[in-house]
Amino acid sequence: MALTLLAGCGGQPAKPAEQAKSKVLNVGTDAGFAPFEFQDEVSKKYVGFDIDLMEAVGKQMGYEVKIQSMGFDGLIPALEAGNIDALISGMTITPERAKKVNFSKPYYKSGLSIVVKMDNNNIKDFKALEGKKLAVQIGTTGAMEAKKVKDATVREFNTAPEAFMELKAGGVDAVVNDLPVNEYYIAKAGAKDAKVVGEPLNSEEYGIATAKKNTELIEKINKALDELKKNGEYEKIYVKWFGK
Ligand code: ARG
Repeated sequence: MALTLLAGCGGQPAKPAEQAKSKVLNVGTDAGFAPFEFQDEVSKKYVGFDIDLMEAVGKQMGYEVKIQSMGFDGLIPALEAGNIDALISGMTITPERAKKVNFSKPYYKSGLSIVVKMDNNNIKDFKALEGKKLAVQIGTTGAMEAKKVKDATVREFNTAPEAFMELKAGGVDAVVNDLPVNEYYIAKAGAKDAKVVGEPLNSEEYGIATAKKNTELIEKINKALDELKKNGEYEKIYVKWFGK
């Protein structure tokens, strides 16, 4: 963990306030996933539901949170290599990932859906994706599901916005991606020429993750999440980004 241990080594035990200041939690995310994590165009800061939640969790634990953005498929390797202490990135808790990292309790319920061009009247559900050209973000559950579709051509992009751009450019028939992100893209990113179709394919839950060996940290994070749910802070952050 990238917190300074120096504070306690100089003979004198550090005062609690000083200790709190020196604790830094390095958190990785892929900041191209609005409204969970994205870069504010004006301030250039990373913002979003996940960012606010992680900051609140850090505060609760007495850590300063430092967010860094990287490719989604690089997040788990970065945890494993010890380059980051934790990740929050709209990451779905899956059994496969849980072999490599510790997930916190779920903090958000999600699911996959499809985005097509407004004038597309053939694709109405997942079944209709058969034989079609699909865009997804590499390393995501959307990519995994798209690859299961019979005879579909799956094109994988480094970021979710690039997958949306390919749909806009007419290079693919549909994007398979997380429903709240798809909805936000259409409502807020001015994608008036696109629509979400079909029921959510599945139900997924997002979790914060730490390195497998870092069980102490994930326990602290879980405890902080519980407290934020109890004291209404989670609710406040939720309403800020998703409305009631
Ligand atoms: N929930 C999906 C998954 O875990 C997609 C997450 C993508 N997140 C991101 N920040 N781009 O695979």
